[in-house]
Amino acid sequence: MTSQTSSGSRRRVGADLHLDLAVTAGRGVRVALTDALRDAVRSGRLPAGTALPSSRGLAADLGLARTTVVDAYAELTAEGWLTARQGAPTRVAATVPVPHPAPRPADGRDGPGVVHDLRPGRPDASMFPRAAWWQAVRRAVAAAPDAAWDYGDPAGRPELRTALATYLARVRGVRAGPEQVVVTAGATEGLRLLAGVLTDRAGAGLAVEELGLHAHRRMLDAIGPPTVPLALDDAGARTAELPDLTAATGTRAVLLTPAHQFPTGIPLRPARRTAAVAWAREADGIVVEDDYDGEFRYDRRPVGAVQGLAPERAAYLGTASKALAPGLRLGWLVLPVDLARAVAARMAGGVGVVDQLALADLLDSGGYDRQVRTARRHYRLRREELVALVAGRGPGLRVVGHPAGLHALIELPDGTEAGVLDAARQRGVALEGLGAFRHPRAAAGRDGIVVGFATPSASAWSGALTALGDLLAAVG
Ligand SMILES: Cc1ncc(COP(=O)(O)O)c(C=O)c1O
Repeated sequence: MTSQTSSGSRRRVGADLHLDLAVTAGRGVRVALTDALRDAVRSGRLPAGTALPSSRGLAADLGLARTTVVDAYAELTAEGWLTARQGAPTRVAATVPVPHPAPRPADGRDGPGVVHDLRPGRPDASMFPRAAWWQAVRRAVAAAPDAAWDYGDPAGRPELRTALATYLARVRGVRAGPEQVVVTAGATEGLRLLAGVLTDRAGAGLAVEELGLHAHRRMLDAIGPPTVPLALDDAGARTAELPDLTAATGTRAVLLTPAHQFPTGIPLRPARRTAAVAWAREADGIVVEDDYDGEFRYDRRPVGAVQGLAPERAAYLGTASKALAPGLRLGWLVLPVDLARAVAARMAGGVGVVDQLALADLLDSGGYDRQVRTARRHYRLRREELVALVAGRGPGLRVVGHPAGLHALIELPDGTEAGVLDAARQRGVALEGLGAFRHPRAAAGRDGIVVGFATPSASAWSGALTALGDLLAAVG
């Protein structure tokens, strides 16, 4: 099928893969096809392992020469997006995930590139406490024993494991000794290691919330048997359905975001926390608790971690990516001792000692608490401005979830998400559609956009908010 778009480009829409080829003057069909396939993999529409149609079939669907498709497949195979084996279909490779992809550079096709950065999952980078971090590094390096410069325990430096156990007990109600803490290169790396151990033990895929971080889901699907979606409603994950999921699929691990569901922002109700723990005890299972932004609650003290209810049945994931910076790549797991050992055995070498000791210093000296308090005030005001922007804009538009975290879900009137995303691209507003976070096997749901209100720097925030208001005015 070929149609004319308002921008004057020809679009060919493929039936099976729903590829949308934007062919413009000076940009060949093969480039359009490779771009469309990369986009489909990146966005999760083509998950890892998916078999692609034969080159002959796709060429026929799209009305292209077969060599164009053969060349595009070969190029993407060389780049590592696809894998090809003699006599077998070409498949989507198990690509290394990036939790939140970098902004796309302007290419003249999709609008001006990123002008207003509202991608979810990031703190305001200008808030990074450079002076405090630098002082922590100086103090840590001066105080480190000689042994710190040798190969160490891959699970992490004892100073940091102890500091984390103390901090997490105080702030998140986590109950664990330092031997249960494993320091990782971000929560994502922790989840990757843990998932390897769990799938080896259980032989079944993890259950995941039907809306969740796409990069984590894709990573899990690439590691073991496919993930299984667990339904959500207005009170969070429907954990009472876990026994049925286990009966149907054999799953004995569930990944939850109890403090602040990602991306809906709804905390898990107490009864549902207890149901998850009861299921884990009954099924000999484990609750994997992603506490990615648990310190950032704005209306009250955050609810403690599920881990505190059942340390023997919980695998807790934490990160410095929100309070400090994702670029540090510092995260932690808190696990039952046997799991901590199994995960540490899979670590190649662990995290660099200077960063570990600096973080331990920041935690022990109160610098981390100070940073969280400062950031909390900053983001609370931004969220309030966002809520005020959306309020009264019309039926079907509302900010979902509790006052917490670094992002918010804005629900949109049915059928408007694609249009809003398109308009956002044209105007250089980077944000994500709710659909991108939906598990491929979950039922269809509401339309929405996920807005990272923490991402812009202080000077960029008001411009970003105005641009978002203009986008919403078109649908309100
Ligand atoms: C749901 C969720 N979990 C975990 C993380 C943290 O990942 P990492 O520590 O690897 O940066 C993020 C980051 O954005 C996230 O959105």
